[in-house]
Amino acid sequence: MATIYVLNGPNLNLLGTREPDIYGHATLADVEKLCRATAERFGWAVEFRQSNHEGDLVDSIQEAAEKKAAGIVLNAGAYTHTSLAIHDAILAAKVAVIEVHISNVFAREKLRHHSYIAPVAKASLCGFGIDGYALALIGLAAMTGTSAKT
Ligand code: DQA
Repeated sequence: MATIYVLNGPNLNLLGTREPDIYGHATLADVEKLCRATAERFGWAVEFRQSNHEGDLVDSIQEAAEKKAAGIVLNAGAYTHTSLAIHDAILAAKVAVIEVHISNVFAREKLRHHSYIAPVAKASLCGFGIDGYALALIGLAAMTGTSAKT
């Protein structure tokens, strides 16, 4: 069974209580449930992780490559706007990455408009709330020619 890595960066463990006017009331456990339900439609297993540490995210991207994951859905949080290390890890991994942001980063402060992930991602989604994760998985299925199982 193919595996999709869903990786979440710093502060996303606080979803539900963190700035709910921006990020909504759903928790990271709700995101995980949504990802598992969506991935199941395509016969995918999910490796779902969150870390507040940049190196952990790099390690997970390297692991996804080693294990020949079918794709990575990545919400790198604030590391999106700062991390050349994550950019380089994606380049080395040669695994399709879909960049996701819960909020519409382009409608927010200018410092959130630049992404180190976008130039090395297959696609980027933002502003759909947590539904962006499900949309990313559906997009990944379309990109890889994976059809829904039932
Ligand atoms: C975020 C947007 C980032 O700018 C921010 O630092 C986050 C969350 C989002 O999902 O909207 O931590 O990635």
